[in-house]
Amino acid sequence: MGNADSDIVFQSYGRCCNNEHFFIDFYDRFMSSSAEIRELFIDTDMPAQRHLLRNGIMQLVLHSRGLPDTKLKALGNSHSRTGYNIRPEWYGLWLDALLDTLRKHDTHFDESIAQAWRRAIEPGIQLIRGAY
Ligand code: HEM
Repeated sequence: MGNADSDIVFQSYGRCCNNEHFFIDFYDRFMSSSAEIRELFIDTDMPAQRHLLRNGIMQLVLHSRGLPDTKLKALGNSHSRTGYNIRPEWYGLWLDALLDTLRKHDTHFDESIAQAWRRAIEPGIQLIRGAY
């Protein structure tokens, strides 16, 4: 993955991450992708969760810029079978929901930005999913 991807993604996220509606739309999409996923968040404080996800996505972006993976390892732990028990196949739905939400909110979004996002954050997602 080149540094170019990470720059594109950093700027793309910068155009979205200060907008609360970005995270509201993300969870609307993500939860509508499966009843099982919706159930996982029944007791969740969603305003707090949206804030945590803002940081979580930033961790994926920073990882693509070469920052240490300590925070992603902690997420791998909390999402594993001994934690929230997030099944590996759900991460594809998570990424689809993220890309759909970026398409809606990032005013510069196009297919090359989508591909840059995939290349940049897939290794970090794999790290979290792989801890299952
Ligand atoms: C790589 C993608 C993901 C990132 C970056 C991410 C990020 C986060 C963060 C930052 C938290 C709060 C910190 C923590 O509790 O450890 C969290 C909690 C959580 N995540 Fe994820 N997550 C991802 C994927 C998923 C997926 C695929 C699911 C479900 C299918 C999921 C379900 C949950 C649940 C249920 C919680 C706890 C909510 C609560 O406290 O009630 N996450 N996630």
